[in-house]
Amino acid sequence: MCGIVAYIGRREASPILLEGLKRMEYRGYDSAGMAVLDGDLRVGRAVGRVAALEEVLEREGGFEGTLGIAHTRWATHGGVTEANAHPHRDDGRLGHGIAVIHNGIIENHATLKRYLVEKGHVFTSETDTEVLAHLIGELYRGDLEKAVQSALREVTGAYAIAVVCEKEPDVLVAARKGSPLMIGVGKDEYIVASDSSAIVAHTTQAITLDDYTVARLDRESFRTTNVDNDPVSAEIRELEYDLGQIDLGSYEHYMLKEIHEQPEALRLCMKGRVDLRSGQIVLGGINQFARDLARAKRVIFIGQGTALHAGMVAEYLMEDLAKIPTDVEFASEFRYRNPIVEEGTVVVAISQSGETADTLAALQEAKQRGAMAIGLVNVVGSSISRETDAGVYLRVGPEIGVASTKAFLGQVCVATMLAAFTGRRRFLAAEAVRDLMERMSEVPGHIERILEQSDAIRDATARYVERDNWLFLGRGYNYPVALEGALKLKEISYIHAEGMPAAEMKHGPIALIDEGMPVVFLATRNSQYDKVLSNIEEVRSRGGHVIAVATEGDEEIRDRVHEVFWVPDVPEPLQPLLTVVPLQLLAYHAALMRGRDVDKPRNLAKSVTVE
Ligand code: AGP
Ligand code: GLU
Repeated sequence: MCGIVAYIGRREASPILLEGLKRMEYRGYDSAGMAVLDGDLRVGRAVGRVAALEEVLEREGGFEGTLGIAHTRWATHGGVTEANAHPHRDDGRLGHGIAVIHNGIIENHATLKRYLVEKGHVFTSETDTEVLAHLIGELYRGDLEKAVQSALREVTGAYAIAVVCEKEPDVLVAARKGSPLMIGVGKDEYIVASDSSAIVAHTTQAITLDDYTVARLDRESFRTTNVDNDPVSAEIRELEYDLGQIDLGSYEHYMLKEIHEQPEALRLCMKGRVDLRSGQIVLGGINQFARDLARAKRVIFIGQGTALHAGMVAEYLMEDLAKIPTDVEFASEFRYRNPIVEEGTVVVAISQSGETADTLAALQEAKQRGAMAIGLVNVVGSSISRETDAGVYLRVGPEIGVASTKAFLGQVCVATMLAAFTGRRRFLAAEAVRDLMERMSEVPGHIERILEQSDAIRDATARYVERDNWLFLGRGYNYPVALEGALKLKEISYIHAEGMPAAEMKHGPIALIDEGMPVVFLATRNSQYDKVLSNIEEVRSRGGHVIAVATEGDEEIRDRVHEVFWVPDVPEPLQPLLTVVPLQLLAYHAALMRGRDVDKPRNLAKSVTVE
């Protein structure tokens, strides 16, 4: 995905746009660019971070003006080069002076490009976005809003765009389909952005655009239509976003901050939802569907990446606690494999951002086939949350670090409450729910104890950080945690790591084990503990070095492994909430030791809003 920000008002645009890009840089950071209109259109672009763009603007100067657009890119079509950086312009020979920034993919860009080349257009980039800019230029007849509407009628794919034109210095046009876009409504000024982090510094009144909406803004007013120029309504709402939540504070990285926020994040996630006296679970966004959920014939969790791993934990929870047949699927696979969705199916989309394109599309596919759609989402008002019939917000606060940490815990915590909430309406006794919720309310304190081991985890990690291949093994509830631990290490340290069920190792991957290879085991006391001990022996007998996440006080395991990270003893369904934390710290320390950019790992973006 990328970060889009645009401004029209009475203040200088450039500083507002730069600040907005910095707040959204976690959305993508291959290159950045800005266009400001003050009579002429001034465009500046740079490969790399927003800071590189800032240097260009300072060096070149002349970016005065009260109307502008700016973009931080996560490349989908065309390499990471200055020529491919946004904003993209229409064909200068037409003399319209149009500039476009875009989040998404213009899927029919090749067809459109052939049409435009035949009409004599000359392109300067490899991107799909430049095709859209030229198409708008080709269709421009003196009205930018209409040219954008006409162009979008020809486009297939996903877009969130902002467009300016030298001939219309008092007009900003924005539009969205499939990629998020908001309008912050200020006093005689508007800020258009991909998310609220670029808006809240200026106003808390905002509109979240719906798909197919085109907005035409000037300095006093705005209007919203569809691509056929039919008026559509746009509701202004109060943004629930506190900039203080996204200040780095005393931490070196957002990821470390968010790892350490986990105890408080879980407390907020449970607050007002669990009555420890009665064992009552209150999930406001679900209550009206409680009966449908309790009568569901099947539940399917969908998501990608870390959210999928949370869905795998949720699968165990839903079957254990609610006794409902449950599956978990990659959203990207579910949406294309012609899934069977019978009557009585509930699909639960898990997503931190609420903007992951595959998860959104899979949810829409499931709804189209008659499923009830529930969302477990962190970002309020996000596309997935607005697509669902019901949902539960994670309420863990904004997650900025690209590597998801506290959101994973929030997803698992909400899934636990959802499973217990549903189970209570089926076969789960009140005291069983009360006991489980009582133990879950102790988890934040347990995490605080685990976080105290950070230095020991760092020292253990240092002994293996040079190794280029790691295995992560777990069973039962800890199998998804093994996958999550491997993903954390991969995505921020770039070390190759593979997670799998501990039993699966013998069916091939054991061939990978050589002298000193680091193999991480989730080895907490639970129903499969003895089997895990056997797997540990199988690894050690082939020279592998075992790093175990184990239950405090377990003396048996200490002599069988090379390193131990301790977690307090909790019921098996709650173990993922604890066992993932040492693996988050392991990945964090390994990335630092390898000199990586922990918060902005190469090639990644915080939310993948393209397919
Ligand atoms: C996890 O650390 C990654 N950032 C990535 O796998 C992420 O979990 C995935 O892209 C899903 O994002 P979402 O939760 O916002 O839908
Ligand atoms: N598809 C466009 C490009 O590759 C936009 C990518 C994005 O969303 O950042 O430039």
